[in-house]
Amino acid sequence: MTDNPHNFAEADDFALADEFALAAESTPLLPVILDAIAREGGRITFAEFMGLALGHPEHGYYSRKDLRWGKDGDYETSPEVHPIFGYLWARQILECWERLGRPEEFALVEPGAGSGAFMAAILTWLRARAPECFEAARPTVLDGHPHRLDQQRATLAARGFAPPAYEVEHALTEDWLARPGRVTGIVISNEFFDALPIHLMEREGDDPRELYVTSEGGRLALEAGETSTAAIAAYFDALGLRPGEGATAEVGLAARDAMQRFAARVERGYILTTDYGYEARELYASWRTQGTLMAFRGHSPQPDPLGQPGRTDLTYHVDFTTLATAAAQEGFESAPLTTQAEALSVLGLADALRAAGERAHEDVHRYAAERRAAETLTDMSGLGRIAVLAMAKGAPLDGLRCLQPIESLMRRA
Ligand SMILES: C[S@@+](CC[C@H](N)C(=O)[O-])C[C@H]1O[C@@H](n2cnc3c(N)ncnc32)[C@H](O)[C@@H]1O
Repeated sequence: MTDNPHNFAEADDFALADEFALAAESTPLLPVILDAIAREGGRITFAEFMGLALGHPEHGYYSRKDLRWGKDGDYETSPEVHPIFGYLWARQILECWERLGRPEEFALVEPGAGSGAFMAAILTWLRARAPECFEAARPTVLDGHPHRLDQQRATLAARGFAPPAYEVEHALTEDWLARPGRVTGIVISNEFFDALPIHLMEREGDDPRELYVTSEGGRLALEAGETSTAAIAAYFDALGLRPGEGATAEVGLAARDAMQRFAARVERGYILTTDYGYEARELYASWRTQGTLMAFRGHSPQPDPLGQPGRTDLTYHVDFTTLATAAAQEGFESAPLTTQAEALSVLGLADALRAAGERAHEDVHRYAAERRAAETLTDMSGLGRIAVLAMAKGAPLDGLRCLQPIESLMRRA
């Protein structure tokens, strides 16, 4: 008998690190996901996991009341960098309205509107520079959760875009898509499709295998198995290609279906989509063995997309070939992809900067910030390489301003 009644001799204290790590990964959403895995016999598809991680009504990343955008959030999107992004796209919207014959009621629909900053900037520009188009516009701001709609309503109201001064509709995406009837106008989105759930597949021989989310000792892990739906093989059959042997790849069935449903609701008009992504042959190139799925928290990429579900943003590069094909089924023609850097340049970024330069002496800090914003939005290692897909139905696509080659600007100058 010693003075010390405790016997620690057998204790594996190093193993405590596992519990420590497990606790750090735990979030209120983790038990919900573990329940779903247990209910479904030990695994769920990655699409189900991502649907919960981003969209669970209480604990999903995009359902949080306190979700912060821009510099204070987990990542910065273009509308958060500077309103000039929305002002330049508003020029494009004005041209679309004119090309449609200046309809008296012009639907201006933005799915996945984030903080509301993009629509606020678009409407600010239209009100100041194109009042007739502003009066004709019927803005509809769409998102997946009432907290997001509240945030967007507040952003727009703070700038005077609320009744009685001005009508803006705020609606859940699903409700808007399920409505009968069609609109004439434009659907414009930034980084919306890359937030929709994807299936994860792994190429093994000719047949795709699917990666499921399972649990190992309370921790989430990936496990390969037969595909959960024939739609995955059909997706690649429709493209006439397969990812490289042994490669992991994302399959955006939800993005494809959403695009087709948006396209179906447009009688006549345009769909302008800006997102990280590529044509399918580039996205599924044989050298791309790891796919494009990324997890972000506090502006830092996270090594594990399964870590801290509900507190981590998940995103991937979209397959623009499939999005264009989905819209084509509803009568849309599409133009070859361009980049955000090129589109913003031809929409007038240089002219806007030149004008800003002329008043630089009044406030040099403001001018420096404007120049920095222009650089950030067109930086080809960042936001500038975001792809732009422009599509039209019952309206001319050729010569659309955002599609013009940069040389045409040089010729004009
Ligand atoms: C990456 S954020 C982009 C936000 C904004 N467009 C921007 O550029 O700052 C994705 C947006 O899509 C919304 N979203 C994500 N999943 C959704 C879903 N399943 N249905 C509707 N909206 C969704 C999010 O709430 C968020 O507003």
